[in-house]
Amino acid sequence: MNIAIIGCGKMGRIVERAARERGHRVSVVVDPFITGSEVPAGTLLRKTVEEAENLHEADVAIEFSQPGAAADNIKALAKRRIPAVSGTTGWYGRMDEVKEAVNAAGSSLLWAANFSLGVNIFYRIAFNAAALMDPFDEYDAGGFEAHHNKKADSPSGTAKTLAEGIIKRMERKKKPVYETLDRPPLPGEFHFPSLRVGSLPGTHALVFDSPADTIEIRHTARSREGFASGALVAAQWLVKCPGPGQAAGGARRGVFTMDDVLDELGVKSTK
Ligand SMILES: NC(=O)c1ccc[n+]([C@@H]2O[C@H](COP(=O)([O-])OP(=O)(O)OC[C@H]3O[C@@H](n4cnc5c(N)ncnc54)[C@H](O)[C@@H]3O)[C@@H](O)[C@H]2O)c1
Repeated sequence: MNIAIIGCGKMGRIVERAARERGHRVSVVVDPFITGSEVPAGTLLRKTVEEAENLHEADVAIEFSQPGAAADNIKALAKRRIPAVSGTTGWYGRMDEVKEAVNAAGSSLLWAANFSLGVNIFYRIAFNAAALMDPFDEYDAGGFEAHHNKKADSPSGTAKTLAEGIIKRMERKKKPVYETLDRPPLPGEFHFPSLRVGSLPGTHALVFDSPADTIEIRHTARSREGFASGALVAAQWLVKCPGPGQAAGGARRGVFTMDDVLDELGVKSTK
């Protein structure tokens, strides 16, 4: 695939390196705040999507920018009919407007708040486990998430997706509670607090506990490479590229998420 990188910060750089390592080509980088010396050799740097004259050569654009920039970037890519994979978070208040623009232009977008393949598979393992455990009242359910002490938000977006998905699949659990409790949880509460310590890697754990035993399911992130790798898998899926280093086969039209990718990869889920 020929890839355009929109937003060349920490994630953009990792995606760029991972793409090259897999034999893809990165032709253009769009970022208004970096200089040419920060861009890999052979790659054109442009400040906006509109200014990037060779963007039409790209099969797909991978966008990791900033909350205030993502919606406009995706709309500008749609206008030029460049399929977009966006990992930027914090712009979802503009989702309806962005979806409308993508669909009206007959273009494509695949977005995810977490591109890690492991996390997306973990969601399905956790949701299936919740549905399986629901009839067994002796097993209480809860969990926790832990991250480094520089993380700005709490609970993590991943924790919210997990807790909300579990509530949907357990009759016995009605409401996620993320705060520390100074009382025992009430019936129906699903307790899922956050811990922030040192440089702990992102961890999400789900616990089913009975008087006799415990079942624990846990995902621990080791690095940001997993996000980049998932974004590249998503990009390949979006433009029907059969494998790393191979040519795109034509873009799917519409708005998609990692759920669509996993469905097609055959990762079974309890709806
Ligand atoms: N979905 C996921 O799996 C995932 C994983 C990690 C991070 N993220 C999200 O991705 C985003 C980027 O994360 P990061 O760690 O790379 O941040 P970063 O701050 O290191 O990089 C952001 C880059 O975007 C650039 N930028 C700003 N305005 C722009 C614009 N209008 N057009 C293009 N580029 C612009 C900045 O100059 C900077 O280089 C954040 O929203 C973060 O929460 C998502």
